Amino acid sequence: MNPNEFWNQAFGRSGLEPHYDDWLDKYKEELDRCSGRTILDLGCGIGNNAKYLTERGHKVLCCDQSEVALEKLRAFVPEAETKRLNMLEGLSFADGSFPLVIADLSLHYFDEADTFRIVRDIHRVLEEGGLLLCRLNSIRSLPVYTGYYIEVGGLMRRYFDREQVDYYFGNDLWEKMTCLEYPMDRYFKGKIVWEVPAKKRG
Ligand SMILES: C[S@@+](CC[C@H](N)C(=O)[O-])C[C@H]1O[C@@H](n2cnc3c(N)ncnc32)[C@H](O)[C@@H]1O
Repeated sequence: MNPNEFWNQAFGRSGLEPHYDDWLDKYKEELDRCSGRTILDLGCGIGNNAKYLTERGHKVLCCDQSEVALEKLRAFVPEAETKRLNMLEGLSFADGSFPLVIADLSLHYFDEADTFRIVRDIHRVLEEGGLLLCRLNSIRSLPVYTGYYIEVGGLMRRYFDREQVDYYFGNDLWEKMTCLEYPMDRYFKGKIVWEVPAKKRG
């Protein structure tokens, strides 16, 4: 099954509804600074973050490769703008288009070259000093270490330790702010994620 089919099937299940946790609360100041501007939500799924953002009056453009996810998102969060987009094909936005990009659990499906390419593209579409807020699988979610990029549950997934977070986000493109590692109960017990806020360097 290709990744798009995987996600269409996953989001095609009945009874799914967007629910959010409070991870964006700590970025209230940064979000409020975007007032009137559009925030980009990459790999938005059915709109957990879109719901959070629109309920607080923010404008959001939600992008995903899965048309099933976007259809559900539009039903649940009609205030959000949507666009079907495959990050592997490049972000079809002008340089410096957004003050803030969110990529919540959506950047850890790619091999090393594609991950760097996508992260560089996010850097390009952010304005000077713009902020990327992302969450990524932690390697500590795995019962045993079998590699950083492995197949789990029918999909290739990347797992990060601190060195890997630094490898992708601690370079000359990004000023990495404090990153956090914590358990999250959205999907299944035992999932551990990294939260990485990174500011675009000039
Ligand atoms: C685990 S879900 C996270 C959804 C949402 N961000 C959230 O936190 O609720 C991963 C999302 O990334 C999207 N995705 C994966 N690969 C993608 C790609 N190449 N281009 C665009 N979206 C992609 C999937 O369709 C899915 O919606």
